[in-house]
Amino acid sequence: MSNLPTVLIIGCGSIGERHLRTFLATGRCQAIACDTRPAILSDMAEKYKVETFTDWKQAMETPGCTIVVICTPAPYHVSIATEVLQSGRHCLIEKPLSLSLEGTKQLTAAHTASGRACQVAYVNHSRPELRAAKAFLETGQYGRVRAATINGGQNFPTYRPAYREVYYADRAQGGGAIQDALTHWINLMEWVLGPTESLSCVADHQVLEGVEVEDTVSVITRTKEGAIVTYAMNQFQACNESTIQFHAETGSVKIEYHNSRCGHMALGETEWTWETFEPLDRDGPFVIQANDFMDATEGKDTPMASLADGIQALRFNLACFESLRTGSRVSISE
Ligand SMILES: NC(=O)c1ccc[n+]([C@@H]2O[C@H](COP(=O)([O-])OP(=O)(O)OC[C@H]3O[C@@H](n4cnc5c(N)ncnc54)[C@H](O)[C@@H]3O)[C@@H](O)[C@H]2O)c1
Repeated sequence: MSNLPTVLIIGCGSIGERHLRTFLATGRCQAIACDTRPAILSDMAEKYKVETFTDWKQAMETPGCTIVVICTPAPYHVSIATEVLQSGRHCLIEKPLSLSLEGTKQLTAAHTASGRACQVAYVNHSRPELRAAKAFLETGQYGRVRAATINGGQNFPTYRPAYREVYYADRAQGGGAIQDALTHWINLMEWVLGPTESLSCVADHQVLEGVEVEDTVSVITRTKEGAIVTYAMNQFQACNESTIQFHAETGSVKIEYHNSRCGHMALGETEWTWETFEPLDRDGPFVIQANDFMDATEGKDTPMASLADGIQALRFNLACFESLRTGSRVSISE
């Protein structure tokens, strides 16, 4: 047995398996896997040679298990995370943090009392293009960002072929474009521009077969610092492309994830100055994220999303639903 810490993955569906593989890829931990479905566990044991469990509380008692990654559907995140932190273990929680604010105060209290790392797995924080854009904007050379847009999506049947059979098909399980996908962008924008103050949302089911949840969403928002931010996402488009633009007082910054690049253009210039990054495979950002979380467990600062960021993104989701229900603009309160 090595002395490396043991990471427990709870829920080994599509993202849990990716976390299992990418935490192992860091070379900084051992791993064990838990799922309530025995067939998945046989698969994990065979592919990754890890010990498996059907009961996460029993799995946590494995000697050396000091780190837990919660990859169940969203309704179970908060209650499991609270117990994990109360047990004195570090905790990485998949997005969205939850579907309502219920239990989030207790979770925050458990985190504060634990002194352990607790982050939300908003993986955009591990994208080199976004880190570069954020660092550039933070130099302040273009002044304050006053407007921003994020636009794009991907074809869900191509990239998540099981979408009809998993939580995605049901809003009450964390499904639909807002809770499942837009939440990544919300957190991304708030990471760069600060919290959102109010929003207006339009969303509907437009194309995806076999589900009724919204696959298309547009949101117009204002941040607390007064930037106007527009989100336009769909989950059926042919092109796997997402573009982000930040327009500041004296210049613009653009990220093209599909071209692995980030550019800037000062007022008066006519061409982008691009910084291009080595394209990452689908596991790439998750390996960066796993290394960051291992750093967090060692008490180091990381660029990962905090629990408070996860709660703020959850408030944004809830405000979208309120806006859809009432057809009006909604303020996001603390
Ligand atoms: N960061 C990302 O890019 C990303 C991608 C996909 C999903 N997610 C998020 O991850 C979470 C899971 O998504 P998924 O696509 O892997 O779903 P999934 O349905 O494929 O897998 C979830 C797994 O959790 C298991 N499970 C449920 N309750 C459990 C329990 N009490 N104990 C142990 N196992 C349990 C289920 O059996 C299932 O295998 C969701 O919150 C989703 O939004 C994040």
